[in-house]
Amino acid sequence: MKVLKFFLAACIIISFVSCSSESELIDIVSDPVDGGGDNGNGDGVGDVTGVLNLPATPFNYANVQLPGYFLNNDLQREDNTPNNNPITDNGATLGRVLFYDKKMSANNTVSCASCHQQENGFSDPNVLSVGFEGGLTGRNSMGLSNARYYQNGRFFWDERANTLEDQVLMPIQDHVEMGMTLAELETKLATEDYYASLFTAAFGDADVTSNRISLALAQFVRSMVSYQSKYDAGLAQTNNPQANFPNFTQSENLGKNLFFSNRTRCSDCHDTNAFVGDQARNIGLDAVFTDLGVGGVTGNNNDTGEFKVASLRNIQLTAPYMHDGRFSSLGEVIDHYNNGIQNSQFLDNRLRQGNGVRRLNLSAQERQGLIDFLITLTDNTFTTDEKFSDPFIDED
Ligand code: HEC
Ligand code: HEC
Repeated sequence: MKVLKFFLAACIIISFVSCSSESELIDIVSDPVDGGGDNGNGDGVGDVTGVLNLPATPFNYANVQLPGYFLNNDLQREDNTPNNNPITDNGATLGRVLFYDKKMSANNTVSCASCHQQENGFSDPNVLSVGFEGGLTGRNSMGLSNARYYQNGRFFWDERANTLEDQVLMPIQDHVEMGMTLAELETKLATEDYYASLFTAAFGDADVTSNRISLALAQFVRSMVSYQSKYDAGLAQTNNPQANFPNFTQSENLGKNLFFSNRTRCSDCHDTNAFVGDQARNIGLDAVFTDLGVGGVTGNNNDTGEFKVASLRNIQLTAPYMHDGRFSSLGEVIDHYNNGIQNSQFLDNRLRQGNGVRRLNLSAQERQGLIDFLITLTDNTFTTDEKFSDPFIDED
């Protein structure tokens, strides 16, 4: 910081003395600072010039002012941030670089962001994602908006990861996705100068360990909180999700009121202002299961065909839908809930009626309303925010 202040002061003086043009001034300022990276004092990193485009002072990840309705008890209960890994600005910055670094894969072709793209709500528009050697993942990539909010803190469609800290190391070691061992990864990243600065800023010294990689990636993913959609603007005005929102169209309000109604019961499973579930559920996509979901992990028959209810925030951008990407549009999703539910002993009670399944009998207008409402959860500030974007200057 001192170096930077001196530098700026020098530039101002130079500009007075030499009356240099604005463009010259910018040239001077953007010259690489002579190894003046002031690591370790929490002010960010210095010697990453040429490789990474990072701000001199890190972006704010740790102290984002969330709206009041994000701070209520319902939502605080969902927050799965552990005591030993709170978000710091330098930790999430390191996580951001790791997230976009193709060196995380065995042959330098795939990063986390290859399958979790910001413009798609950190999901993948393909039904299955392509791994480092061209193989396909077993399921549809998940959007990461508001992954921080899920009370049981488990991750993946089948909830096989106990924590986010566990989860983020799994794609790295997956034989289809990135194909690395953690030992190989540590050795590889330790040879990059920029990681020496980034690890020092985040953790106090330059040691590259898989534990630190896990903590930093988890911090970055938890920092991806989406709270600036059209829905948020309406809620800020009314403070009541059930009220008609003045900024909504008639169709959006119709859909919103249906979403929160006993008729559809959508909000029984997609709950709170993060629109997340309380636990995995079976929504009757099939009567016979090829993918056992949570049941395949726990071995418990009762969990057959249950899948995680991840946040619906930015759902418009994360098509295709469901764990296997079987639905290509929100219309198809609504049609499933309207009249497509398959009966089995494992179907969630909320979707039952007597011994059979519930049919919503939505009119065309109501169906469109639900679609229009889901689209109000799109947050363009989130999907274009630089602090979540690719920091690498040259993509190879
Ligand atoms: C080759 C594609 C691919 C790569 C690379 C990849 N992912 Fe994923 N990710 C997926 C798929 C597919 C799923 C869902 C898999 C499942 O549930 O079985 C997923 C799920 C997740 C989830 C779970 C979200 C939730 O709500 O439970 C998180 C978090 C995540 N990935 C983060 C990462 C991080 C961090 C990296 C980099 C270290 C990464 N992913 C690399 C494809 C990928
Ligand atoms: C019984 C709980 C439950 C109810 C009720 C419910 N959902 Fe879901 N929803 C889920 C689960 C579980 C998934 C993920 C299922 C899977 O992938 O196998 C899901 C998935 C979705 C998805 C796709 C998510 C994605 O990332 O692919 C959308 C959109 C959705 N639901 C909207 C709705 C709407 C709209 C309603 C009301 C008409 C509704 N849900 C009612 C539990 C529920």
